[in-house]
Amino acid sequence: MNALAATNRNFRHAARILGLDSKLEKSLLIPFREIKVECTIPKDDGSLVSYIGFRVQHDNARGPMKGGIRYHPEVEPDEVNALAQLMTWKTAVADIPYGGAKGGIGCNPRDLSQSELERLTRVFTQKIHDLIGTHTDVPAPDMGTNAQTMAWILDEYSKFHGHSPAVVTGKPIDLGGSLGREAATGRGVVFATGALLAEHGKSIKGMTFAIQGFGNVGAWAAKLIHERGGKVIAVSDITGAIRNMNGINIEELLKHKESTGSLKNFEGADKMDPNEVLVHECDVLIPCALGGVLNRDNAADVKAKFIIEAANHPTDPEADEILSKKGVVILPDIYANAGGVTVSYFEWVQNIQGFMWDEDKVNNELQRYMTRAFHNIKGMCQTHDCNLRMGAFTLAVNRVARATLLRGWEA
Ligand SMILES: NC(=O)c1ccc[n+]([C@@H]2O[C@H](COP(=O)([O-])OP(=O)(O)OC[C@H]3O[C@@H](n4cnc5c(N)ncnc54)[C@H](O)[C@@H]3O)[C@@H](O)[C@H]2O)c1
Repeated sequence: MNALAATNRNFRHAARILGLDSKLEKSLLIPFREIKVECTIPKDDGSLVSYIGFRVQHDNARGPMKGGIRYHPEVEPDEVNALAQLMTWKTAVADIPYGGAKGGIGCNPRDLSQSELERLTRVFTQKIHDLIGTHTDVPAPDMGTNAQTMAWILDEYSKFHGHSPAVVTGKPIDLGGSLGREAATGRGVVFATGALLAEHGKSIKGMTFAIQGFGNVGAWAAKLIHERGGKVIAVSDITGAIRNMNGINIEELLKHKESTGSLKNFEGADKMDPNEVLVHECDVLIPCALGGVLNRDNAADVKAKFIIEAANHPTDPEADEILSKKGVVILPDIYANAGGVTVSYFEWVQNIQGFMWDEDKVNNELQRYMTRAFHNIKGMCQTHDCNLRMGAFTLAVNRVARATLLRGWEA
């Protein structure tokens, strides 16, 4: 099942639980606007090349649409559509005043020079500048894009509309980015994990963790878990996997990764088969890499009691069912990885206020938002007698539906 089918399935299930009117259900699934533009640029060698850029704006009932822009060879409309819809539910779960959007350019950023990437980003911005904006649609970095990409969008957009720092988030700090944004998704994952464990009478300290992915999200989550006394006993990334049943020293592992670019040959742990990480003995499993990694081939072998979905769509629907039957508690992606978009919202607020928060304020507010969202989800689970994924979806769909009805848009 692809990402769009899985998202639609969860949405429809939530709509049924909530007893949504069929017209409203249909209208909530239809995107507000789908943009497709040709972006033609001169390459460094003087030849011309053209790439297709997309922006799907899914819903704006609760506020400006919000979502990443990715540069990837396989950016295609169905997937962008699913991810835009997911952003609508994610911002609603976190209760930040946004809708959802997603976009991208079908290109391989590794095949383009820095100046070609800059030209491509500027042309894309020229084509969509009238359709994005501080109070319309606020892009952010995603796969293959970064703070520099956002700086180019900000600069190009500002040529048309005047200085507009809040038109994008995930900017460099020097251009109005927020302190704490880089760590925000991993930190949010740790706050979410803490809230879930507390609900079960446990805490991060002393629990064992297996983490797939040691990039931005995985490395920050591992570092913060280690700082809180959790034992990270298995870690993998694209370069391999390692384990130490006494707990890996994450500070040392970060230094090793920084100096060698790899997890390989780290002295404080033993090498292991990367496929084993997902089924390794542990209390908490945190997939922080790819979608679909938990599926019918490995779900029955998972030993963790808790799974925190830091990656998007790590658990396919078949695995979801197998794991639920085993009694594994899954904290769903639309909540677990919402820390990034929540701090993006804080960045936007700071830009509009023209006032920069210190990092403690950002982190404290993030904890407040993540903890509150967890209790709101639990409330829906109790009301509708459902699992955490449906608790999060019903919470989100109900919030968007209420805003839609109040505006009188559904007919
Ligand atoms: N960065 C954010 O703010 C953010 C926000 C929400 C969701 N996410 C999701 O979290 C996940 C990770 O994002 P990120 O920003 O950390 O990306 P990243 O590119 O920084 O890191 C990805 C990590 O996954 C590893 N990896 C890739 N293939 C692997 C494999 N086959 N086995 C094991 N490890 C593998 C890479 O080596 C790398 O360590 C993605 O699913 C992303 O969509 C990220």
